Amino acid sequence: MVQQDKAKGIAIVTGAARGIGAACAKALVEDGWSDILLCDLNGELLEETAQKLHNSGARITTLAGDVTAADFMDRMIEACDGKPVAAAVHAAGVAPKMVDTAGMLEINWESALAFTHAVKPRMADGGAVVLIASNTSYFPIDEELKDIFERPLSAGESAAYAERVGNSFAGYLLAKRGVRALAKSEAVAFGEKGARIVSVSPGLIDTEMTQDRETDTIQKMINEAAIKRVADTSELAAAIAFLLSPKASFITGCDLLVDGGETAGMGYQ
Ligand SMILES: NC(=O)c1ccc[n+]([C@@H]2O[C@H](COP(=O)([O-])OP(=O)(O)OC[C@H]3O[C@@H](n4cnc5c(N)ncnc54)[C@H](O)[C@@H]3O)[C@@H](O)[C@H]2O)c1
Repeated sequence: MVQQDKAKGIAIVTGAARGIGAACAKALVEDGWSDILLCDLNGELLEETAQKLHNSGARITTLAGDVTAADFMDRMIEACDGKPVAAAVHAAGVAPKMVDTAGMLEINWESALAFTHAVKPRMADGGAVVLIASNTSYFPIDEELKDIFERPLSAGESAAYAERVGNSFAGYLLAKRGVRALAKSEAVAFGEKGARIVSVSPGLIDTEMTQDRETDTIQKMINEAAIKRVADTSELAAAIAFLLSPKASFITGCDLLVDGGETAGMGYQ
């Protein structure tokens, strides 16, 4: 039967203090989600972001913590107070210049895996998960490494590849390939629970991560794109809110590129 209504339960957003995560929290409130758990490492900024949403009438709760901490996912599930997970966005992540390769794989890949495993058994019927990948996951890379990251990895496994991966930019590309592969490989298991899982691959979005616009990579992406500008976070959040809504009830196990045609312009598959 075609799903008509929103799934019943709580919505979770990680990386919610700023950037894409904060925009998703706002979009979910605007879309009528009434019970939302916001998570981030930066507890102070998270409270400020939550404060702006309190007047909406939605029930907003917060959880400060590091998504890579051993106990974080248990704390997150505990904060859901026994409610099923109706919508979940994993937006916590870092840019290559912020961490070394092992840290990159741990935050941008391992935490996506842990997040997916944590919410899977608790998904509401009709619920959906959005993992944030990146359109850099379509950039060409070493075939051998591609084979590694495009198969489902197990928890802790990616760290073993840090040395082979090289620098943290390469780590970023591979971590995001891993995220895309994760949404695909988990789709059937989520389907068995009546739930969906997708990844979204943003292009250049106006956040802290993209303030340094003079780099060759960013200039190339803008110059060759179909839409030659950086996007507002609200443009990405609108696509994510759609994917979490019943309007996207037949969309699962795939990746949505929201990149203004950067990948198309650069000729990547
Ligand atoms: N901005 C872009 O152009 C762009 C493009 C493609 C993909 N992405 C991806 O989108 C996601 C969000 O990026 P953004 O641009 O909003 O960045 P951002 O830096 O503005 O926000 C990231 C948020 O994640 C939080 N965070 C970082 N590490 C954490 C950890 N270990 N535990 C808990 N929270 C943590 C930060 O405190 C911050 O609030 C990232 O995964 C990023 O790779 C961004």
